[in-house]
Formats: sequence, C-alpha cells, structure tokens
Amino acid sequence: MSQPVPIPHGLPMQRDVTPFDPPREITELRGARPVSPMLFPDGHEGWLVTGYDAVRRLLADTRFSSRQDLGILHMPYETPGMPAPTEPSPQIPGMFVAMDPPDHGRLRKKLTGAFTVKRMKTLEEHIVEIVEQQLEKLANMAPPVDLVKEFALPVPSLVICELLGVPYADRENFQVNSAKFLVRDQSLEEKMGAYIALNTYLTELVTGKRAEPGDDLLSDLARDDDVTIEELTGVAFLLLFAGHETTANVLALGTFALLENPGQLAELRADADLMPGAVEELMRYLSIADIFFRYATEDIELCGEKIPEGSTVVISLLAANHDPERFDDPDTLDIHRTARGHLSFGHGIHQCLGQQLARIEMRAGLGGLLRRFPDLALAVPAGEVRLKSDMNIYGVHELPVTWTETAK
Ligand code: HEM
Repeated sequence: MSQPVPIPHGLPMQRDVTPFDPPREITELRGARPVSPMLFPDGHEGWLVTGYDAVRRLLADTRFSSRQDLGILHMPYETPGMPAPTEPSPQIPGMFVAMDPPDHGRLRKKLTGAFTVKRMKTLEEHIVEIVEQQLEKLANMAPPVDLVKEFALPVPSLVICELLGVPYADRENFQVNSAKFLVRDQSLEEKMGAYIALNTYLTELVTGKRAEPGDDLLSDLARDDDVTIEELTGVAFLLLFAGHETTANVLALGTFALLENPGQLAELRADADLMPGAVEELMRYLSIADIFFRYATEDIELCGEKIPEGSTVVISLLAANHDPERFDDPDTLDIHRTARGHLSFGHGIHQCLGQQLARIEMRAGLGGLLRRFPDLALAVPAGEVRLKSDMNIYGVHELPVTWTETAK
C-alpha cells in the first residue's frame, strides 16, 4: 500500500481544530495512510502510526523495542541533527518503561503486587479522604481560583507521595523538575539539569529507605537486595513522574471538557453511576499522553506497510482513540458510549501499571468536585484557557474557575 499522500515533516502536534480533537493533519493522514513514513526535522525517515488497529498491533509486538532514545529525557524528533538511530538506546537503570524483555519484566514483576485492583480498592477510601480535604480547602477559598494549582495537581501528588513514601513537602523539587522534561522545545542541557536534580534527590531518599525501610512502596522495594540503588532511584523517578503529571492533566482538562459540554455535565451531576463510564470516555477523548516511540528491531510488516529494521516509529494514541473505524463519531464527548478498548493507558507489556490508581483518583476527584460545587463555571472565556500545546503531556496550564455556592 502506498498512496500518494504527503509525508509529514516533523510531527503535527497542535490540536488546531478544537482544544480536544486531534490536529487536522493527523486526522487526514490517518484516513489516507494509517501507517505512514514521516521525516524527522534532521531529515531522516521514520514512521508515524495513527490508525487504531495499527497502533494496537504495534503496541502488542515486542519486536518494536521500547528502548527509544533515552525515553522521557529527550525524544528523537525534538533533537534536530540527531543521527538516524541504528541501534536501541542505552538503558537507564530502573526506568523499565524504556526496557524490553527480559529486563522490563524483571522490574515490573516486582511492582505488580502493589498495583493490583484489590490493593488499589483498599486505598480507595484513603484517596477519597485526600480528595475531600482538598475540596474543603478549595471551598474555603474566595473564587476565582486556579483549579490546577489548588486541586488537580495536589490530589495525585499527595496520593503518589504517600504511596511511595516521598515527603509531600519536597514537591517543589519534583513538580518543577518533572514539568521541565515535558516542555517540548526545552534544551537538552535544561532537561539534563532537571534530571540530575531529581535523580540526586531520589538517590538520597532511596538510600535512606534501604538503610531504614518504612511502611511504603519504595521501602518494600528497598528490602529486595536484588534491586540496586540505581534501579531503585530509576523506579522512584518513573513512578513519581508518571504518578502525578498524567492524572493531574486529566482532572483539569476533563473538568474543562465537561464545562464545555453542559448537557453531558448535567447528566453526570444527576446520576453518579455514570461516573466510571464518563472517566473512561474522558480518557479516550482527551488522550493527554499522546506521543510514544518505538524502534524496529527487524524488518516488520504492519498493516500492509514494510517498516525497515532500525526505524524510529512514532505512535499517536490521540489519533488511534479518535479513529472512526473503531469509535463512532469519535470527536464527540459521549459519556454514554462504551469507551472500553481505548488505548490511553497503552497496550501490551507496557500497559500502564498505575491505571487502576488513576481511575480511582479521577472518579473520586471529578465526582467530589461536581458534588461540592454545583454551579462550578469557568472564570474566563474558554478561548483564554492556556492549553499545554507546548508540552509532551497535554492539559491546561491553569483553569480559572468560579462558583456561587458549595454543598457538602
Ligand atoms: C505506562 C498513560 C497514570 C505509572 C503508561 C503508558 C501509558 C500511560 C500510555 C504506556 C507507555 C508505553 O507503552 O511506552 C497514563 C495515563 C495516566 C497514567 C494517561 C493517567 C490518567 C499513571 C499513574 C501511575 C503510572 C497514576 C503510577 C504510579 C506507569 C508506569 C508505566 C506506565 C510505571 C510503565 C509500565 C511499563 O513499562 O511496564 N502509562 N498513565 N501511570 N504508567 Fe501510566
């Protein structure tokens, strides 16, 4: 298959239709050639995968290596002049999201017990308590307030800190530094600086836990002599990073999306049982973690296209989740649809380890917010909400909201 469709130069990332839908160019490309060659800014050729079926197959196929260029530290398309990759990048100890079998499984297995549905259920009550405390603080503030700063970021940060045994008082360090990785055109020096700062902080923290373990997830891992301090640090880094930035963005952008869809919002307020389905649909619709990379370890055929060994393959989860071949009327937020099968938590061996935790946080967070603030509204025109178009995880920088009444 090779239709005469334009090959994108660089990655079209701007959501230029609405704040929520995929970029126009991505939608057109998916319709014409869901597995398409693309050119990186330095001129070397890679592949861009946008169709639901192709993305799902790719994520399930470990011949597509996750050892992409230093993982979250810098992404290939952002590094003009980078040589065409010819081999997988070196591994960072502990950072198992960017590892392949068997290294990946060795570390992931040590954590799965801590993230089972059952373990998460037992945490649920406590998460609801954390949400309620934050809502109480919010209700005592004089609107307008920034919902990101006062609610969407603190809730998942508090939860992950407690789970891992990271002092919440140190949040400046990890919130500021992890945000720096996500700025798309950040220089490599800046990213390295943030990485070193966070790494130094976490090395000290996990070294302390190894010497004197406490009652938290990192201490449990620190008791395992098979795990080195470097690996412990990498795991801590990954969990802390993945555990707060992602959920915070869904909470804030999800609130924005609901406020922009008042009919859906009213239905959700009227029937709390709709919340689990609404969270799933928001995950699909918003696809805040959009772009991921893989590396072809051999020549691989994917949906009729031949991807040569050594290619960098870019995946758009946003495009896949809005594929009309899989979801009817995909650019419409519909809390009644069955969004199950969306790829927002990935698929295959790297499928999100924290997905149950994230779901619980989102149900409790959004549910609590809607109950407590029955007339929550944007405090600025929707067009003035600052979108994270400059970041690798999508969301809003701030969400100014207001209300006239609160409920218990
Ligand atoms: C992996 C999304 C919340 C921890 C992933 C992947 C995605 C994702 C797409 C797959 C990456 C890949 O295939 O390369 C999200 C979204 C979240 C969320 C959208 C929130 C709404 C969390 C939370 C944690 C977490 C709360 C908490 C601890 C992880 C870890 C991995 C991962 C450790 C790597 C798994 C592996 O490589 O085996 N996440 N995530 N995530 N996520 Fe999440």
